[in-house]
Amino acid sequence: MSLRVAILISGGGSNMVALARDMVGHHPARPCLVVSNVPGAGGLAKAETMGIPTACVDHRAFKGDRAAFEAALQKVLIAHTPGILCLAGFMRILTPDFVAGWEGQMLNIHPSLLPLYKGLNTHARAIEAGDAEAGCTVHEVTAALDDGPILGQARVPIQSDDTPEALAARILPLEHRLYPAVLRRFASGDRTKLKLS
Ligand code: GRF
Repeated sequence: MSLRVAILISGGGSNMVALARDMVGHHPARPCLVVSNVPGAGGLAKAETMGIPTACVDHRAFKGDRAAFEAALQKVLIAHTPGILCLAGFMRILTPDFVAGWEGQMLNIHPSLLPLYKGLNTHARAIEAGDAEAGCTVHEVTAALDDGPILGQARVPIQSDDTPEALAARILPLEHRLYPAVLRRFASGDRTKLKLS
């Protein structure tokens, strides 16, 4: 019996596509749902073409009532009985109560070498700081933002003429290799940290 994976997105869902494409054959997990907080997110159409059930819980409909949004999201998730949640370009901050209900079962990919640069504008901040490297991290989601146990990282050198956009473009393909590799291990019960170069 495969583990069921729900993937949460807000936009194009390139990481969702990479995860779904890898969950085939002997992989211990299968995608059971792609849910977006943004109606019409490009990733929803991609999931539909891949035959993955989709849903949308528009956070704007809840007018800032975070608990009500999360209750609606939880209802949709539960209906699809996932054993793992993968946040993949999901741009809503989840409350500690919601996270507590999925502790140990929820992963996220963040575009920095955590614990450096939690939050937004990660590539610009790394360039501004004069760092030699940048990258991405897959971690377990805990109540504190971008702070849970690290499960995998991939890194690239920062070039002297790098813009945040150029750096992001070099890191995104690494995300698409790192996240599936970490999910495959995580679904097999392996929590050892993966270093991708
Ligand atoms: C990626 O940079 C990812 O690291 C961040 O959101 C961006 C878009 O992800 N979490 P995707 O293309 O929607 O998967």
